[in-house]
Amino acid sequence: MNHRDVVALVTGGASGLGEASILELVKKGAKVVVIDVDADKGEKLAANIGANAIFVKTDVTSETDVRQTIQKAVDAFGKINVVINCAGVVNPGKLIGRKGPLPLDAFNKVLQINLVGTLNVIRLAVEQMMNNKPDEEGEKGVIINTASIAAFEGQIGQVAYSASKAGIVGMTLPIAREISDYGIRIVTIAPGIFETPMMAGLPPAVKEDMAKAVPFPRRLGKPQEFAKMVLHIIDNVMMNGCCVRLDGALRMPPK
Ligand SMILES: NC(=O)c1ccc[n+]([C@@H]2O[C@H](COP(=O)([O-])OP(=O)(O)OC[C@H]3O[C@@H](n4cnc5c(N)ncnc54)[C@H](O)[C@@H]3O)[C@@H](O)[C@H]2O)c1
Repeated sequence: MNHRDVVALVTGGASGLGEASILELVKKGAKVVVIDVDADKGEKLAANIGANAIFVKTDVTSETDVRQTIQKAVDAFGKINVVINCAGVVNPGKLIGRKGPLPLDAFNKVLQINLVGTLNVIRLAVEQMMNNKPDEEGEKGVIINTASIAAFEGQIGQVAYSASKAGIVGMTLPIAREISDYGIRIVTIAPGIFETPMMAGLPPAVKEDMAKAVPFPRRLGKPQEFAKMVLHIIDNVMMNGCCVRLDGALRMPPK
């Protein structure tokens, strides 16, 4: 898909990996719909971009919110043909913590936002994308999800996060198989450790240790490097039904 023809819905778009993807897409002439629960940051970002962006405050776990947002996107730009799912939370918690077993509410919350929220956006966006006119390759749209290498090497304290991200990896192929009939692709990116606001709360010494654990390059990933992968997936029609690790060969230790 040509980047200039892209109208992308980007969840978690107000920050970090989503924001970086938006900025790179806009440079290529794409139009973007910034979706986030953080209205302050989302509105500022869209206003700085100008006519090629709108912000719609949206909770990805809400069917009503996502339906209304997709309608607003179509009203503004005529269609959507790319979804980039970046909304997510970490909320660490051990199976048996200091206060006892991991509360089910805490586990459910992470699953709701990271996994159910991703699925909610995919299903409603695919329903809309099916109306798109196919390009010369027969393509109508591309979905890009964000998992994590914690889907494969979850650390102690990541029981909910790892389960949510493994769910995203697991649903990628069955969705790809189903939506290929409509000319829509789906690819999941599993990032290693990237320097975003999600990581900002960590003490510098912890971040240094994390960077040292990355075989090469021996540093945290830059959000722009994630965005480059997003642009490549949109561009390369053979990428479908897979999960791409973007991690400098990092394999997370138990803790
Ligand atoms: N930064 C990393 O090292 C890293 C590594 C692996 C995976 N990831 C994943 O990448 C994605 C983006 O992470 P980031 O580092 O950019 O984090 P971030 O905290 O900078 O951005 C996440 C955004 O999601 C939004 N969000 C949270 N809940 C939402 C909801 N219910 N509805 C809509 N928006 C919501 C937040 O407001 C925030 O703006 C996440 O899914 C994260 O799990 C990040």
